[in-house]
Amino acid sequence: MNYTILGRTGLKVSAMGLGCGGPSRLGKKTGKSEAESVAIIRQARDSGVNFIDTAARYGTEEIIGKAIKEVGRSWLVLSTKMLTTKMKQPGFERITPEEVQKGLDDSLRLLGTDYVDIYHFHGVLPRNYDYVVSEIVPTFQKMRAQGKIRFIGITESFDGDPQHTMLQRAVEDDIWDVMLVGFNMLNQSARERVFRRAMQKNIGIVVMFAVRLALSRPERLRQLVKELVAKKHVNPSDIDENNPLGFLLRAGGAVSLTDAAYRFCHYEPGTHVILSGTGNPDHLQANIESFSRPALPHEDLVRLRDIFENVDSVSGD
Ligand SMILES: NC(=O)c1ccc[n+]([C@@H]2O[C@H](COP(=O)([O-])OP(=O)(O)OC[C@H]3O[C@@H](n4cnc5c(N)ncnc54)[C@H](OP(=O)(O)O)[C@@H]3O)[C@@H](O)[C@H]2O)c1
Repeated sequence: MNYTILGRTGLKVSAMGLGCGGPSRLGKKTGKSEAESVAIIRQARDSGVNFIDTAARYGTEEIIGKAIKEVGRSWLVLSTKMLTTKMKQPGFERITPEEVQKGLDDSLRLLGTDYVDIYHFHGVLPRNYDYVVSEIVPTFQKMRAQGKIRFIGITESFDGDPQHTMLQRAVEDDIWDVMLVGFNMLNQSARERVFRRAMQKNIGIVVMFAVRLALSRPERLRQLVKELVAKKHVNPSDIDENNPLGFLLRAGGAVSLTDAAYRFCHYEPGTHVILSGTGNPDHLQANIESFSRPALPHEDLVRLRDIFENVDSVSGD
């Protein structure tokens, strides 16, 4: 496993992080038992992964708590998150500072720890950014002073904001130690809009959506590329619509599409940790191996950039 320093946090982190949300939620969404989910965490740790990302919303904090009980806390850089609005029909209701404090205490109890390394504002939409900064950030700073949080992060809603409107503002503010950013071969817009400035400010960058559905299910990829061609975001003469990324799979190239997807993100300048979400031990092993392979061939990177350079409308889900 490769390691790096997570920007201004100074934390030493593995290049691959275990994502405990997404379509898999450590196997919770794909019919795996709690013991199998705990085994995924143990397997990741035994292979050198030291970064785990979860959220109150995923329902996996308790599973991580069980793993921590078994294998200890000290090896782990733990990232979790809190929603800053709650669903209330017909609209959204904001949460109070008291609810924020309680939310963190609940997460700590489930995780079985007395601190988290990175506490994120979860999936902040552009329209909520000002409210988050003025009303909730001070509470996070207070909790940090109490020693319950080491660093403060923010995550975008990549499905709702695939253009990174919110993070383009956030990256200019001096509040955020870490950002969780949507980035993959299909939507590379974070490169110019987030990573370039984040590098100047030494903000830690964690990537989500490296694979997601479009890059793990061939039928979904074909459908999505057809949609992009129809919208004129991708030029049909640049791509084989029936096998859009088949050119990546060749001797000296990627061994699978998921392999290409993780290596693509891992070697992108400005990224530190790439999250991989799975409840399948064979997939986990394959993904760990991807992180020790070299960068994709230069000509493949150039071709990917050319094909998808105008795409900022999809997350890859
Ligand atoms: N706004 C936010 O803050 C936000 C939003 C979304 C996600 N996240 C975080 O980002 C993390 C990463 O996203 P993600 O979980 O969607 O991860 P991902 O790694 O991009 O995609 C995971 C999907 O790919 C499949 N997969 C993984 N490895 C595979 C392989 N080798 N072969 C075939 N299929 C494979 C998984 O299914 P299997 O289980 O079958 O392997 C799962 O359906 C989440 O877990 C969560 O922690 C944060």
